[in-house]
Amino acid sequence: MKDILEQLEDRREGARLGGGQNRIDAQHGRGKLTARERVDLLLDEGSFEEFDMFVTHRCTDFGMDQQKPAGDGVVTGWGTINGRLVYVFSQDFTVLGGSVSETHAKKICKIMDMAVQNGAPIIGINDSGGARIQEGVDSLAGYGEVFQRNIQASGVVPQISVIMGPCAGGAVYSPAMTDFIFMVKDSSYMFVTGPDVVKTVTNEQVTSEELGGASTHTRKSSVADAAFENDVEALAEVRRLVDFLPANNREKPPVRPFFDEPDRIEPSLDTLVPANANTPYDMKELILKLADEADFYEIQQEFAKNIVTGFIRIEGRTVGVVANQPMVLAGVLDIDSARKAARFVRFCDAFEIPILTLIDVPGFLPGTSQEYGGVIKHGAKLLFAYGEATVPMVTVITRKAYGGAYVVMASKHLQSDFNYAWPTAEIAVMGAKGATESIHRADLKNPEKIVSHAADYETRFANPFVAAERGFIDEVIQPRMTRKRIARAFASLRNKSKTMPWKKHDNIPL
Ligand code: HXC
Repeated sequence: MKDILEQLEDRREGARLGGGQNRIDAQHGRGKLTARERVDLLLDEGSFEEFDMFVTHRCTDFGMDQQKPAGDGVVTGWGTINGRLVYVFSQDFTVLGGSVSETHAKKICKIMDMAVQNGAPIIGINDSGGARIQEGVDSLAGYGEVFQRNIQASGVVPQISVIMGPCAGGAVYSPAMTDFIFMVKDSSYMFVTGPDVVKTVTNEQVTSEELGGASTHTRKSSVADAAFENDVEALAEVRRLVDFLPANNREKPPVRPFFDEPDRIEPSLDTLVPANANTPYDMKELILKLADEADFYEIQQEFAKNIVTGFIRIEGRTVGVVANQPMVLAGVLDIDSARKAARFVRFCDAFEIPILTLIDVPGFLPGTSQEYGGVIKHGAKLLFAYGEATVPMVTVITRKAYGGAYVVMASKHLQSDFNYAWPTAEIAVMGAKGATESIHRADLKNPEKIVSHAADYETRFANPFVAAERGFIDEVIQPRMTRKRIARAFASLRNKSKTMPWKKHDNIPL
């Protein structure tokens, strides 16, 4: 018996060494952790239980029968993050470059199936040379099976991808279909075709980092949601994100102990909005003052900064925040910000996370580049996302809410539950200057008259009271009372139940 136990330990020891000490050293030399070190950092200490440690591939071509590493290049299993169940796979670059074989893919599929069945998030750590070249179509079939599971799991359990090395070719499409993608600066990249192919086809010369590094995907393409300095920081941030999320679409988000008064009064908010309507202010200041313990988890911080998205907690419960940012492009809505916010709203709605919308929006950005780029369709995404959301929604207008953007941003007309405005709110078709120039064209050559018309327009419309008279604003509130008001509003909505007419699925403008 002792021998058998020792044999088991020897086998385990061998499997844990992956591609061997030299390759582990090479991995460390690049500033990267190994697949197992990553899993250990991601999960609560000692909580990881591995599946399929001894699985090997079945390929015999190209001498592959001579190398059959245990585990086949991916570490899979389950464990906990702050006590809550998650499933995880972590590709092992030290074994055949983490390349995906038929059996490697089967291991991933197994834990994805378990995650969906048992209602727990899936976290995938990607570090792979892509399809195992020696296996040909078997490898592609494996990817296909993973893709299909990504699609089926979407909206059922949260899926998080962490890119910690190469992720190229069709392989990018698995992370692309997950809810969040995190990257590590300087050691990860994602692209459909690499720099060599790009050079051949388009004659562009570009490095891997420029083409698909963390900075490219967090700032330009918006493929990735965040970038971190190193593996350790990225994994710590995944843990922090998981703490905000429900385990699945049938569960409410977790409730955490909180140490902040729900009815905390914030006198400083009374002066947040500057006297001059064109002076910017930082909407993040408001978010931090509304959040429990000023804890804000921002999503896509580096992209479309004219809108801010992320998670806070109010009374210990997760709330998704969407907020125009007057500091950037005056908080205008455009293609990028509409896409960013729409995807975030849909995530929240899919996972029963209530939505808080903070509004200071002068409208949609005009111009040929926006129209040619399809701002009509992209803006409609956000409109559609809010209009189909059935989660609790609370909206606060701090200053401008003009034109179509007023309607799009979680207005009463899109069935938001609570619509509050600060006394500084201006709810109108457009700003006073534009409005006056449109309706008093005959007086355009008379500046005095224009100024007087603009003043009339401002008196009549640059306030929240016309909307409040119609019931489009439920109440005009004091800025200092905002946390208390929204905390009470969300508390009253905890048992909200709203259904939409039956349909196979909608046809959101993609
Ligand atoms: C088999 C692979 C492999 C692969 C790497 N390796 N990628 N083995 N299939 N796809 C092996 C290497 O042969 C090497 O083995 C070891 O992993 C480490 O690789 P290195 O090249 O030494 O590492 P590095 O210099 O860091 O380069 C990493 C790399 C490079 C850039 C990823 O390995 C590379 O270009 N690999 C091929 C990438 C590729 O073309 N993949 C297919 C993409 S198409 P030894 O034993 O020599 O150390 C695709 C389609 C998916 O993925 C479609 C889904 C629908």
